[in-house]
Amino acid sequence: SDGAPGCPIVIVGEAPGRDEDLQGVPFVGKSGQLLTNILSSVGLTRGKEVAILNVLKCRPPKNRDPESAEIAKCSAFLNRQLELMAPKVLVLMGRFAANSLLKEEASVGHLRNSIKEVQIAGQKVPTIVTYHPSYLLRSPTEKEKSWQDFVRVKKLLKESENEAN
Ligand code: URA
Repeated sequence: SDGAPGCPIVIVGEAPGRDEDLQGVPFVGKSGQLLTNILSSVGLTRGKEVAILNVLKCRPPKNRDPESAEIAKCSAFLNRQLELMAPKVLVLMGRFAANSLLKEEASVGHLRNSIKEVQIAGQKVPTIVTYHPSYLLRSPTEKEKSWQDFVRVKKLLKESENEAN
Protein backbone atom coordinates (compact mmCIF):
# COMPACT_ATOMS: atom_id res chain seq x y z
CA SER A 1 0.00 0.00 0.00
CA ASP A 2 0.89 3.67 -0.29
CA GLY A 3 -0.32 5.92 2.52
CA ALA A 4 -1.32 5.08 6.08
CA PRO A 5 -4.37 4.97 8.34
CA GLY A 6 -5.61 8.54 8.66
CA CYS A 7 -5.72 9.17 4.91
CA PRO A 8 -9.45 9.87 4.48
CA ILE A 9 -9.62 8.68 0.86
CA VAL A 10 -8.62 5.13 -0.05
CA ILE A 11 -8.24 4.13 -3.69
CA VAL A 12 -8.27 0.46 -4.68
CA GLY A 13 -6.57 -0.62 -7.92
CA GLU A 14 -6.07 -4.01 -9.54
CA ALA A 15 -2.63 -5.57 -9.08
CA PRO A 16 1.02 -4.52 -9.03
CA GLY A 17 2.81 -4.28 -12.38
CA ARG A 18 6.54 -4.65 -12.97
CA ASP A 19 7.52 -1.22 -11.58
CA GLU A 20 5.30 -1.67 -8.54
CA ASP A 21 6.75 -5.14 -7.89
CA LEU A 22 10.29 -3.76 -8.02
CA GLN A 23 9.56 -0.85 -5.68
CA GLY A 24 6.93 -2.49 -3.46
CA VAL A 25 4.68 0.56 -3.88
CA PRO A 26 1.40 0.66 -5.85
CA PHE A 27 0.96 2.88 -8.91
CA VAL A 28 4.52 4.06 -9.51
CA GLY A 29 4.67 3.25 -13.25
CA LYS A 30 3.03 5.13 -16.14
CA SER A 31 -0.52 4.61 -14.89
CA GLY A 32 0.63 5.73 -11.44
CA GLN A 33 2.02 8.97 -12.87
CA LEU A 34 -1.30 9.62 -14.56
CA LEU A 35 -3.15 8.88 -11.31
CA THR A 36 -0.89 11.27 -9.38
CA ASN A 37 -1.59 14.00 -11.97
CA ILE A 38 -5.37 13.45 -11.88
CA LEU A 39 -5.29 13.64 -8.08
CA SER A 40 -3.24 16.82 -8.06
CA SER A 41 -5.58 18.43 -10.63
CA VAL A 42 -8.31 18.29 -7.99
CA GLY A 43 -5.98 19.23 -5.13
CA LEU A 44 -5.44 15.78 -3.64
CA THR A 45 -2.06 14.35 -2.66
CA ARG A 46 -0.97 10.74 -2.31
CA GLY A 47 0.10 9.93 1.22
CA LYS A 48 -1.66 13.04 2.54
CA GLU A 49 -5.41 12.71 1.85
CA VAL A 50 -5.06 9.60 -0.31
CA ALA A 51 -3.92 6.04 0.39
CA ILE A 52 -3.72 3.39 -2.35
CA LEU A 53 -4.22 -0.38 -2.20
CA ASN A 54 -4.48 -3.16 -4.76
CA VAL A 55 -6.93 -6.06 -4.95
CA LEU A 56 -4.07 -8.50 -5.70
CA LYS A 57 -0.92 -8.35 -3.62
CA CYS A 58 1.34 -10.01 -6.22
CA ARG A 59 1.93 -9.31 -9.90
CA PRO A 60 0.05 -11.73 -12.17
CA PRO A 61 2.42 -13.44 -14.66
CA LYS A 62 2.86 -11.31 -17.79
CA ASN A 63 0.41 -8.78 -16.36
CA ARG A 64 -2.56 -10.95 -17.22
CA ASP A 65 -5.96 -10.25 -15.65
CA PRO A 66 -6.41 -11.43 -12.07
CA GLU A 67 -8.21 -14.76 -11.72
CA SER A 68 -11.15 -15.13 -9.36
CA ALA A 69 -9.28 -17.67 -7.18
CA GLU A 70 -6.43 -15.12 -6.78
CA ILE A 71 -8.87 -12.36 -5.89
CA ALA A 72 -10.49 -14.64 -3.31
CA LYS A 73 -7.08 -15.55 -1.79
CA CYS A 74 -6.11 -11.87 -1.40
CA SER A 75 -9.48 -10.63 -0.19
CA ALA A 76 -8.83 -11.22 3.53
CA PHE A 77 -5.71 -9.02 3.27
CA LEU A 78 -7.56 -6.31 1.35
CA ASN A 79 -10.48 -6.34 3.81
CA ARG A 80 -8.12 -6.06 6.79
CA GLN A 81 -6.24 -3.19 5.12
CA LEU A 82 -9.55 -1.40 4.55
CA GLU A 83 -10.55 -1.91 8.21
CA LEU A 84 -7.23 -0.46 9.37
CA MET A 85 -7.39 2.46 6.94
CA ALA A 86 -11.04 3.21 7.89
CA PRO A 87 -11.58 5.54 4.91
CA LYS A 88 -14.20 8.29 4.79
CA VAL A 89 -14.47 7.87 1.00
CA LEU A 90 -13.57 4.83 -1.09
CA VAL A 91 -12.60 4.90 -4.78
CA LEU A 92 -12.66 1.70 -6.86
CA MET A 93 -10.62 1.96 -10.04
CA GLY A 94 -11.44 -0.51 -12.77
CA ARG A 95 -13.71 -3.53 -12.98
CA PHE A 96 -11.69 -5.86 -10.74
CA ALA A 97 -11.76 -3.48 -7.77
CA ALA A 98 -15.40 -2.59 -8.43
CA ASN A 99 -16.63 -6.13 -8.94
CA SER A 100 -14.76 -7.58 -5.97
CA LEU A 101 -15.83 -4.95 -3.43
CA LEU A 102 -19.34 -4.21 -4.68
CA LYS A 103 -20.24 -7.81 -5.50
CA GLU A 104 -21.97 -6.35 -8.53
CA GLU A 105 -21.08 -7.50 -12.03
CA ALA A 106 -21.54 -4.36 -14.12
CA SER A 107 -19.28 -2.25 -16.31
CA VAL A 108 -17.32 0.67 -14.88
CA GLY A 109 -19.18 2.95 -17.31
CA HIS A 110 -22.45 1.90 -15.65
CA LEU A 111 -21.25 1.76 -12.02
CA ARG A 112 -19.65 5.21 -12.07
CA ASN A 113 -23.05 6.86 -12.56
CA SER A 114 -24.07 6.62 -8.91
CA ILE A 115 -22.60 6.80 -5.42
CA LYS A 116 -22.25 3.31 -3.98
CA GLU A 117 -21.72 2.12 -0.41
CA VAL A 118 -19.24 -0.39 0.95
CA GLN A 119 -19.44 -1.68 4.52
CA ILE A 120 -16.07 -1.32 6.27
CA ALA A 121 -15.74 -2.19 9.96
CA GLY A 122 -19.47 -1.65 10.46
CA GLN A 123 -19.50 1.75 8.68
CA LYS A 124 -21.19 2.46 5.38
CA VAL A 125 -18.51 4.20 3.32
CA PRO A 126 -19.56 6.29 0.28
CA THR A 127 -17.88 4.81 -2.76
CA ILE A 128 -17.14 6.07 -6.25
CA VAL A 129 -16.28 3.74 -9.12
CA THR A 130 -14.06 5.15 -11.84
CA TYR A 131 -11.89 4.11 -14.76
CA HIS A 132 -8.53 2.46 -14.17
CA PRO A 133 -5.64 4.75 -15.23
CA SER A 134 -4.27 2.01 -17.54
CA TYR A 135 -7.56 2.21 -19.44
CA LEU A 136 -7.23 6.01 -19.58
CA LEU A 137 -3.75 5.63 -21.11
CA ARG A 138 -5.37 3.57 -23.88
CA SER A 139 -8.49 5.77 -24.16
CA PRO A 140 -7.35 9.32 -23.35
CA THR A 141 -10.70 10.86 -24.35
CA GLU A 142 -12.19 9.28 -21.19
CA LYS A 143 -9.85 11.28 -18.93
CA GLU A 144 -12.40 14.03 -18.48
CA LYS A 145 -14.90 11.55 -16.99
CA SER A 146 -12.27 10.36 -14.55
CA TRP A 147 -11.57 13.96 -13.57
CA GLN A 148 -15.31 14.49 -12.96
CA ASP A 149 -15.33 11.39 -10.75
CA PHE A 150 -12.48 12.74 -8.62
CA VAL A 151 -14.29 16.09 -8.30
CA ARG A 152 -17.17 14.03 -6.83
CA VAL A 153 -14.74 12.24 -4.53
CA LYS A 154 -13.51 15.59 -3.22
CA LYS A 155 -17.10 16.75 -2.69
CA LEU A 156 -17.90 13.56 -0.71
CA LEU A 157 -14.84 14.16 1.44
CA LYS A 158 -15.98 17.74 2.20
CA GLU A 159 -19.44 16.44 3.11
CA SER A 160 -18.01 13.84 5.48
CA GLU A 161 -15.81 16.51 7.12
CA ASN A 162 -18.85 18.79 7.55
CA GLU A 163 -20.80 15.93 9.16
CA ALA A 164 -17.93 15.31 11.59
CA ASN A 165 -17.86 19.00 12.72
N1 URA B 1 -2.18 -1.03 -11.83
C1 URA B 1 -2.80 -1.33 -10.67
O1 URA B 1 -3.97 -1.67 -10.63
N2 URA B 1 -2.09 -1.25 -9.55
C2 URA B 1 -0.83 -0.85 -9.52
O2 URA B 1 -0.27 -0.78 -8.46
C3 URA B 1 -0.21 -0.53 -10.76
C4 URA B 1 -0.90 -0.63 -11.90
